[in-house]
Amino acid sequence: MSEIGLFDAMYSARSLRRLKPDPVPDEILTKILDAAIRAPSAGNAQHWAFIVVRDAEQRRKLGAIYRKASDIASAIYRARGRPAHMSEEQYRRFLASGAYLWEHMGEAPVLLVPCLRDRVPPPREALPAAVAARWEDELAYVDRTRGASIYPAVQNIILACRALGLGTVITTNHIRCEDEVKALLSLPDDVSTYALMPIGYPQGKFGPLARKPPSEVAYADRWGAAWPR
Ligand SMILES: Cc1cc2nc3c(=O)[nH]c(=O)nc-3n(C[C@H](O)[C@H](O)[C@H](O)COP(=O)(O)O)c2cc1C
Repeated sequence: MSEIGLFDAMYSARSLRRLKPDPVPDEILTKILDAAIRAPSAGNAQHWAFIVVRDAEQRRKLGAIYRKASDIASAIYRARGRPAHMSEEQYRRFLASGAYLWEHMGEAPVLLVPCLRDRVPPPREALPAAVAARWEDELAYVDRTRGASIYPAVQNIILACRALGLGTVITTNHIRCEDEVKALLSLPDDVSTYALMPIGYPQGKFGPLARKPPSEVAYADRWGAAWPR
């Protein structure tokens, strides 16, 4: 298979939730994982783990947890309503695609679960007084930046899947029922899940991705100043 260019991959790696049941070979999955682990992590800690779920019963159970969690998500979406940048038709398709996955998550041939182990800060006593004095702020910083050590790997997975002709989507609904997921996957207490990614050969087509343009979301030097000038 000829390699797709990086920008073509970024512009066409849309969420693909309708997947064929055909198995994905081990070497392809290893290639995806090898792309995932090229991502940055705080302090290069690489405190991640990736659970590759292919066992049919494990997938069925994960799918059932996702289904349950999605009831909460759907109530939230109903209360929030359509974002201004989406047309009625775009929003209808978005909701229909999301709802499809509620019922079919467990049928994807692979469910990939990117995880992170908690990264404990050094003991307070080991810190200089000025840094120890802002201990609570440091804990808040760790909390705020935690996901930044796994979501770059998730994006690498999305792009690697695109390059290899596989469909996927980042989902997080299951975190609403995280205890059940952790028990099912036998995760240690200090390991948490950050995404649940169905992976398989897509029924639909890739891209293109519709987004608000940079002129609406980027600023020059300070908030509110038009980009490009
Ligand atoms: C943090 C995050 C959480 C998401 N959670 C879910 C989810 O639980 N279920 C789902 O179907 N899609 C989920 N998505 C996918 C988004 O719906 C999708 O990225 C967005 O609609 C854009 O889709 P597109 O790339 O196909 O245009 C999530 C995306 C992000 C970034």
